[in-house]
Amino acid sequence: MTFLQQSSLLSCFIIFSSSSLLLVSSRGPVYKPPSVERLTDRFHPTPVSAKMSTFYGSSNIRMKNNGSYADIILDKNSGSGLVSKDRYHHGFFSAAVKLPMGVTSGVVLAFYMSNSDVFPHNHDEIDFELLGHEKRKEWVLQTNIYGNGSVKTGREEKFYLWFDPTQDFHQYTILWNKHHIVFLVDNIPVREVIHNQVSFFVYPSKPMSLYTTIWDASEWATHGGKYPVNYNYAPFVASLGEFEIEGCLMPKTNSSTMGSCLMSSTLSSSDPVEGGDFIKLTRQQTVGMNWARTKHMFYSYCKDTSRYKVIPPECNA
Ligand SMILES: *[C@@H]1O[C@H](CO)[C@@H](O)[C@H](O)[C@H]1NC(C)=O
Ligand SMILES: *[C@@H]1O[C@H](CO)[C@@H](O)[C@H](O)[C@H]1NC(C)=O
Ligand SMILES: *[C@@H]1O[C@H](CO)[C@@H](O)[C@H](O)[C@H]1NC(C)=O
Repeated sequence: MTFLQQSSLLSCFIIFSSSSLLLVSSRGPVYKPPSVERLTDRFHPTPVSAKMSTFYGSSNIRMKNNGSYADIILDKNSGSGLVSKDRYHHGFFSAAVKLPMGVTSGVVLAFYMSNSDVFPHNHDEIDFELLGHEKRKEWVLQTNIYGNGSVKTGREEKFYLWFDPTQDFHQYTILWNKHHIVFLVDNIPVREVIHNQVSFFVYPSKPMSLYTTIWDASEWATHGGKYPVNYNYAPFVASLGEFEIEGCLMPKTNSSTMGSCLMSSTLSSSDPVEGGDFIKLTRQQTVGMNWARTKHMFYSYCKDTSRYKVIPPECNA
């Protein structure tokens, strides 16, 4: 190959790479994500107030638009949070979230499932956590999973978002069935945990409630606690809406949490997340996930040799 060919190839490459830059914002390049199936279009949004109730900090929760949307607020007095009225054993759990603008170090917005209230010593948990930042706008997305009380091993992964999460609502989705757990952001899978590949830790399998909370995580959230919450910038207001909660429902009234569940409302047939589109990622979704993980993931517990002298076994599976 001649030098000329090389350099024209190189400039092609530069043009090609820069064509994937949609625009350059104040926080750097914003990338256009690959197109994927819109799983959230398969379900109907439900009013927040229909399926969620106050978890704590009721004075810092504001229902809006007749309960379709809600603001949850962290200020000097309190954080706040919502919890689902029912428990679910598998399902599709999605919310559109708009995060607080400005300086948000130490602030965490969590969208997660847990049963620690019922199983304090062997609980399951599936977490999205959005971690505020000391600089403007640069929120970090963290995912994590615990199964049957595996809290000694944090299985965190961290991502930068490819959009500004404070400007608009974006969808954060947990898909959980017996085949896999998938974390999706605007329908793009960012992480998949396949059931039969995790024989090394217990797959979350007991009914869980869904939570959305905003709270002060000064001790750890921003650069390991280097930047605590600065209440000069309070109140921190996160707006929530477009809740889609479909799954196998276990009424909370029954304190025995195992047993058979009821199918939730709007979908007739069988389990809404057991169909072909939900038990396995499509090729398009796999491409989307590889894009998210290659371009936007900057931390995985699997690579953290200073934290884990012995890397958890599923990392090498
Ligand atoms: C407000 O929500 C209630 C309960 O979901 C519903 O019955 C009512 O029609 C709604 N009102 C408006 C104006 O949308
Ligand atoms: C989960 O933990 C409980 C309590 O430690 C234990 O009895 C049970 O066998 C565990 N389940 C699985 C599937 O490992
Ligand atoms: C609670 O669930 C258990 C297990 O499925 C069932 O045997 C029991 O009858 C239920 N109790 C009530 C009050 O629904």
